[in-house]
Amino acid sequence: MKVICFGSLNIDYTYKVDHFVQKGETLSSDSLQVFSGGKGLNQSIALAKAGVETWHAGSIGEDGRFLLKQMEDAGVNTDCVTILTDTRTGNAIIQNDKEGDNCILLYGGANQAITREQVDEVMGRCEKGDFLVLQNEINELTYIVEQAHEKGLKIVLNPSPMNEKIRRLPLAYVDYFMLNEIEAGQILNREIQEGFDKEELGRALMECFPNAVIVLTLGKEGAIYMDQNETFTQSSYKVKAVDTTAAGDTFTGYFIGGILRGLPVREAMDMASRASAIAVTRLGASPSIPVLKEVEEISF
Ligand code: RIB
Repeated sequence: MKVICFGSLNIDYTYKVDHFVQKGETLSSDSLQVFSGGKGLNQSIALAKAGVETWHAGSIGEDGRFLLKQMEDAGVNTDCVTILTDTRTGNAIIQNDKEGDNCILLYGGANQAITREQVDEVMGRCEKGDFLVLQNEINELTYIVEQAHEKGLKIVLNPSPMNEKIRRLPLAYVDYFMLNEIEAGQILNREIQEGFDKEELGRALMECFPNAVIVLTLGKEGAIYMDQNETFTQSSYKVKAVDTTAAGDTFTGYFIGGILRGLPVREAMDMASRASAIAVTRLGASPSIPVLKEVEEISF
C-alpha cells in the first residue's frame, strides 16, 4: 500500500520581517531565502520522511525542476509530476515575523493547470486501498475525489487554504479530515467565536461525516482526534517558534504516515505532534521537516 499526494509544488520566497506589511506601507525585509514548499510538496516530504512509500502527483514549470530533486532526496517518487513548458511553477511570498508567525500570498501557476487526462493517468497508477492525500492548492479537486472514490482509494483531505471550492466537493467520500477550527467552521457554515467548545465542533463534523476520522488541529493547544469509537486530545510540545510554515503539513504527513505504518492512532498523533514541534524551530517549509529518527529520539 502506498500514499499518493496529489497537490501543489511551490517555490517559497521567505522574507524575514519585523512585522507584517500594512496597507499602504513599504517595508524593508531583513533577509530573503528561497525554499521548496507548497502544501502538497511539504506533505509528500513529511510522508516519505515518516517512512512510507510516497508518490507525488502535480505540475511544475521548467523553473521548478529543483523541487523534484528535493523531493527525490527525501525519498518521494516524482514520476507523476508533469513539467509544463509554457507555465511557471507556483510560488508563495511568505512574510515571517519576529514571533515566528507567517502570512502567505500564493500564485497558483502550474498548480492550477492540472488536466483531467493527467488525473486519469495518476489514477491508473493507484491501487484499491492506496491512500490519496489532498489539499486545496490545485484545480480539478472534485474530479480527483470522484475518481479516487470510484477506484476505492482512502481519501485524506486537508482543506487548506479554505475557500468555497471545498464546500462544493463530494465531502462524503472523504475518509480523513485534517483541519483547523476555522476550516471546520466554514465546512459547517458557522462562525467560530473565541472560547468555542472544541469537542462540540468535532462532534458536529462527525454528525455530518459519521464514517470519517476527524483530526482537528488547534495550534499551541494541540489536536483532537475523533472517530466512531474514540475521542482524545493530543497536547502540543512546547518549543520556541522560529517559523511556523509547514507545521500543519508536517503534522498531516507524520499522522497519515503513522497510520499507514500500522501505528495505534494515539502513537500516530503523538509522532505528528513531535514532528511539527521540531518543524517550527526551523526556518523554511520543507527543509524544516524532520526525519523519523529525530522525531523518535527527541525529548522535550
Ligand atoms: O503550508 C505551508 C505552505 O503553504 C508553504 O510552503 C507555501 O508554499 C503555501 O503553499
